[in-house]
Amino acid sequence: MAAILGFGGYVPERVMTNDDWSELIDTDDEWITTRTGIKERRFAADDEATLDLAANAAEKAMADAGLTSSDIDEIIVATDTPEAYTPDTASFLQHRLGCREVPAYDLGGSGCAGFVQALDVARARMLLEPKRVIVVGVELISRLMSWEDRSFCVLFGDAAGAVVLGPDQGQAELLDVVAGTDGSQADILTLKTGGTRHPFNADSLASGDYQRLDMDGRRVFREAVHRMTGAVSDVLDRIDKSVADVALVIPHQANKRIIDAVQHKLGIDEEQIYVNVHNYGNTGSATVPFALWEAKENGRINSGDLVVLTAFGAGFHWAAAAVQF
Ligand code: ACO
Repeated sequence: MAAILGFGGYVPERVMTNDDWSELIDTDDEWITTRTGIKERRFAADDEATLDLAANAAEKAMADAGLTSSDIDEIIVATDTPEAYTPDTASFLQHRLGCREVPAYDLGGSGCAGFVQALDVARARMLLEPKRVIVVGVELISRLMSWEDRSFCVLFGDAAGAVVLGPDQGQAELLDVVAGTDGSQADILTLKTGGTRHPFNADSLASGDYQRLDMDGRRVFREAVHRMTGAVSDVLDRIDKSVADVALVIPHQANKRIIDAVQHKLGIDEEQIYVNVHNYGNTGSATVPFALWEAKENGRINSGDLVVLTAFGAGFHWAAAAVQF
């Protein structure tokens, strides 16, 4: 059994509103709100990096679980915006938290689905050997994105979320996870420069390509709705439940219109779906664990509730997890 023993979430203090953006680039609150539902987001302070966000969320999750770093047997970090190019953020986190010399690794480049995919990896590892695993979703996008490309910069924010999984009796049970990938759709959301096919060099620096996210917005929208609703249905089928049994769906928070479409397609009420994209924007692989932590803190989740997490991301990846409180 994989239980969730503790939850943690962290956002930086600095608030960046739509009006703040309109002072820097040619945009306005009306455009951003209508297209995305986003009103504001948080940006990391100059002296904060990915590790700081991840450590904050992980420490909260350990405290919530009543555990200390010596109790942790494995660390998984899902991120597309790592502390360094190499080694991975999980190595830095193992040291920062003061954990024993346990396995620690990143699920990098898996886009916004990374955290839910990492839950799947963690529970598989726990089947081999009962262990306590910290799973973190963290993103510090504001440091790496272009602040001049209005199509993208207004969408994103910085955040981290974490859970501690363990074999003991916990606050919730991770009942099942489904995950999938369609690599034929890799081109609909990609940042090509920086890899071996398109190395970072003087040309990409001069052209700004090193920060250019290629996105086919309409196809991403369509795939996101199709894959998240499909993943929710699949995971519910596997545990012999229906959407009527679900107290709360926590979807990836990229865009309110995508969330509304998922709600509509699943045929669930507004109260059954969690939305915080207006406050934080799209925080990549952090949206789901941060929203999970926040929903618990806000009293939106009660004992006995069945909660379904679902996410999609560049890859094209998708995943869903059923959690029984
Ligand atoms: N402010 C004002 N105008 C803007 C802005 C801005 N911030 N950004 C773009 N525009 C303009 C464009 O230049 C364009 O102008 P033009 O018609 O004169 O050329 C016009 O607005 C329309 O631009 P589109 O890119 O077509 O805008 P669209 O209506 O498609 O909305 C959006 C963009 C919100 C991203 C949409 O494609 C969408 O919802 N996509 C879904 C996917 C998504 O949310 N992706 C985000 C991350 S993916 C992930 O999380 C895994």
